[in-house]
Amino acid sequence: MAAVCCFQLKLNPTSSSSKPQSHLRFNPSTFALPSSSYSKSAEPQPLYSSVKSFAPATVANLGPGFDFLGCAVDGIGDYVNLRIDPEVHPGEVSISHISGAGSKLSKNPLWNCAGIAAIAVMKMLKVRSVGLSLSLEKGLPLGSGLGSSAASAAAAAVAVNELFGGPLSPSELVIAGLESEAKVSGYHADNVAPSILGGFVLIRSYDPLELMQLKFPHEKNLFFVLVNPEFEAPTKKMRAALPPEITMSHHVWNCSQAGALVASVLQGDLNGLGKALSSDKIVEPRRAPLIPGMAAVKKAAIDAGAFGCTISGAGPTAVAVTDNEERGREIGERMVEAFMKEGNLKALAMVKQLDRVGARLVSSTPR
Ligand code: HSE
Repeated sequence: MAAVCCFQLKLNPTSSSSKPQSHLRFNPSTFALPSSSYSKSAEPQPLYSSVKSFAPATVANLGPGFDFLGCAVDGIGDYVNLRIDPEVHPGEVSISHISGAGSKLSKNPLWNCAGIAAIAVMKMLKVRSVGLSLSLEKGLPLGSGLGSSAASAAAAAVAVNELFGGPLSPSELVIAGLESEAKVSGYHADNVAPSILGGFVLIRSYDPLELMQLKFPHEKNLFFVLVNPEFEAPTKKMRAALPPEITMSHHVWNCSQAGALVASVLQGDLNGLGKALSSDKIVEPRRAPLIPGMAAVKKAAIDAGAFGCTISGAGPTAVAVTDNEERGREIGERMVEAFMKEGNLKALAMVKQLDRVGARLVSSTPR
């Protein structure tokens, strides 16, 4: 099987065409996957009266891969329940309920990540004859650095697509999710692409959107220690802290580290992956001082035996990597202590593996 698998799509989804491809049924050994899947003129008929989908949390950037590298982590994420609702105007979506960590979120679909992505998919499918009701179960805390907004968008995009039989490709669903990310937190696909595709994903290009799935060897153990402090770091604010320009020496350094990170992922080299993850000289140095205790947390993780540690996404979650679950728990404890001691922040640690599946249908009710 190829270690790298590519997806390419023009950002204008109506301009692409190729053979049918459902996002959950792609062939991972195929290069240059088709992007489009159905007759663009016909409105697809719903296959189900309701569906439930799940999309995993993600770790974006992975150190030097700002806005172009990310991966999905298993066991935590958001759920979307979607049903055909005769009370909703045909062609529209309504958000009926938000539970879990999302009490602050707007129920206006135009201002909600799940709503924006659902509308984008409905537009791509040209849905005109049914209205949809969506309810969102937020498993991920907001502004945590775990791809919370992207998971909602990914779950919603997959739910709408699957309700209609899954005609859109993964790349098209990423574009729908990207529309949501752009409105809510900034134009970046390094959360939404891995949340939809699973595993490690490299965004090679944004225009046209070109994604490369990086296969981490199945036989290797990889554990992410995710330590989430009680502190909100809104992505927009953390992006505003970034330098508008960088030096040539930093460019060379970060590119070489990102290259090493990709090679390490493909080779299953945890030591190399950790080293590269820890090495960002451009983004992390600007953001770490905004997260109380982050520098000490990173040091505590490395001292406790982690291969590497950095900020997950825009933060404030810190992510460390190890090859042993038990050691991961110990590393997590040291990181939690450091957040308290140096940042005066309570924090929760989790040890998670890579999610290799991505956003998926959980259940469905035929019409
Ligand atoms: N690449 C984005 C950023 C990810 O770091 O701003 C946000 O989760």
